[in-house]
Amino acid sequence: MSEPIKARIISTGAYLPEKILTNKDLESIVETSDEWITTRTGIKKRHIAAKNETTSDMGVIAAKRAIEKAGISYDKIDAIIVATITPDMLFPSTASFIQKKLGITSIPCFDIGAACTGYIYALVTAAQFIKCGAFKNVLLVAAEKLSAITDWEDRSTCVLFGDGAGAAIVSGERGNMEIGEFFLGTDGRFTDILNVPGGGVFCPASEESIKNKMHFLKMKGQEVYKYAVKYMCESAEKVLAKANISSESIDCLLPHQANMRIIKAVGKRLKIPQEKIYLNVHDCGNMSAASSSVGLDGVLKKHNGNQKILMVAFGAGLTFGSLLLEGMDNQ
Ligand code: UT7
Repeated sequence: MSEPIKARIISTGAYLPEKILTNKDLESIVETSDEWITTRTGIKKRHIAAKNETTSDMGVIAAKRAIEKAGISYDKIDAIIVATITPDMLFPSTASFIQKKLGITSIPCFDIGAACTGYIYALVTAAQFIKCGAFKNVLLVAAEKLSAITDWEDRSTCVLFGDGAGAAIVSGERGNMEIGEFFLGTDGRFTDILNVPGGGVFCPASEESIKNKMHFLKMKGQEVYKYAVKYMCESAEKVLAKANISSESIDCLLPHQANMRIIKAVGKRLKIPQEKIYLNVHDCGNMSAASSSVGLDGVLKKHNGNQKILMVAFGAGLTFGSLLLEGMDNQ
């Protein structure tokens, strides 16, 4: 009998827009302070996409970087999966736009809408296609232009988010990081605590919807905070139990980068020391699904070889999930 196919990450890529918005800059936009933002969130600055720069534009740059690093030709890519909550259009999918901009045709392309957990959902989805033998190489992209759905008059949300994109090539043929045990979940009872109410069929665009700012992100921050810690910890604990390992054997924790206080609380409960936790929240803010993809690119620059990386995230939905990446010696 032949060996089961393993799903592995061959390469990653990332892109952050040039323009940087600091906490000091925000002080001249809304009534806030560097001190408030830093102590409540840990964020110091975030990248903001240019006016005409779309989610797919950012995704394509990250994708090209991952493809180049993988050293594969475009015709070896069997599918494109994109995680985003800020698609270029309601339809077609941002994956379709990325396919077009890469000059690839025919292969299946689709988006995953699992908010900040989107990249973990996408990695797990790609892994299933690889393991069953349907595809050999899948291009994953997580890209967000959150600045386009931010209410720049709402100080409780506009200080939190940033734009960016990350990508990976998941393969059944080679690669150093194996996609291992995972847990995915959603608690749909809390769809009202983090959403963009306008633009879909629930509240189509109208003069009234625009006047009422229905096309901007709305969040009940404290409620999200409460469930974030609970669901991230529970997800990570389930993965550790499934893999039959303790948190001590984790070399790096890559949590969703929403808020430093949430990250610290998760690290403490999982008993993973601060120095093993990867952070980009200070420099990038919360980039939703792109936080984990840009983060993974950063992690893999530091960690290679025989290492265990635990990813964990939560987001609107409420979605949550965790994934174990295990370094393999045989590339
Ligand atoms: O990817 C998932 C997305 N979301 C999250 O993970 C967010 C989770 N939640 C959080 O991170 C926190 O709840 C926030 C950072 C959003 C807010 O922190 P908080 O400690 O929960 O603050 P709060 O909402 O209780 O607000 C405290 C005070 C309020 O003033 P009063 O009512 O006490 O006078 C707010 O009006 O802080 C005020 N405030 C601000 N002050 C200065 C809210 N935003 C700001 C601001 N600058 N930007």
